[in-house]
Amino acid sequence: MSRQKMVVGNWKMNKVYVEGLVLANTVMAQLQQFREDVKVVVCPPSIHIQTIASIYRDYPQLSVGAQNCSHHASGAYTGELSAAMLASVGAEYVILGHSERRTHFNETHQELAEKVEQALQNKLSPIFCCGEPFDKREANQQEAFVQQQIEESLFHLAPKRFEQLIIAYEPIWAIGTGMTATPEQAQEMHAFIRQLIASKYGDDIAENTTILYGGSCKPSNAAELFAQKDVDGALVGGASLHAEDFVQIVLQRV
Ligand code: 13P
Repeated sequence: MSRQKMVVGNWKMNKVYVEGLVLANTVMAQLQQFREDVKVVVCPPSIHIQTIASIYRDYPQLSVGAQNCSHHASGAYTGELSAAMLASVGAEYVILGHSERRTHFNETHQELAEKVEQALQNKLSPIFCCGEPFDKREANQQEAFVQQQIEESLFHLAPKRFEQLIIAYEPIWAIGTGMTATPEQAQEMHAFIRQLIASKYGDDIAENTTILYGGSCKPSNAAELFAQKDVDGALVGGASLHAEDFVQIVLQRV
């Protein structure tokens, strides 16, 4: 997969069925004529995936993703959804390693490596999240923290498989807090991540990797983030729950 401009909406655990339908349709109505080279991905709770995938089927600029998948292929894992199941109802992407899942569901580097494996085997593109907590940034250890997340969950991959990944840098202190990273902080970390990828996989793959920023991204700050040379787009939480805001962010990513 080559590097692309991209805006991804992570609805998290919001929107009952009808609300989800309205939001997905409103986004589509505003973006169906949108012919710029920006990939827009909506990641709703899994119950919405099939319906939204069928609504978006005729619009190649719009896709659907999941927010998680099991690290197992199938079997006696009550309550879990496999990558194969998500792909079978139309998901094309899956967010993996979101900090909320690492914190509340104790996801480990190893488990995430297995989830990445499941996703790739089932032709889902992982959107792999990394990012440091506030104390690591205060101690100026953010790069070492992110490096470990990436190395331990991703660097076992062969180059051909690594190319299928999208990386999302989401500093934990910026998620849902209104405290966005400055464009300089985002650029610095994105450049570091690209350099890290280059050191393992070479310059071509690093240059072709899509790296998104997430953390209080909104219409008022999207443009300055997107102006940074290593910021390819955004992973949007709260603002993706409001069609107008989400579309405004997409329109700034041209
Ligand atoms: P907010 O945009 O609400 O800060 O959330 C970011 C996020 O966690 C996206 O995955």
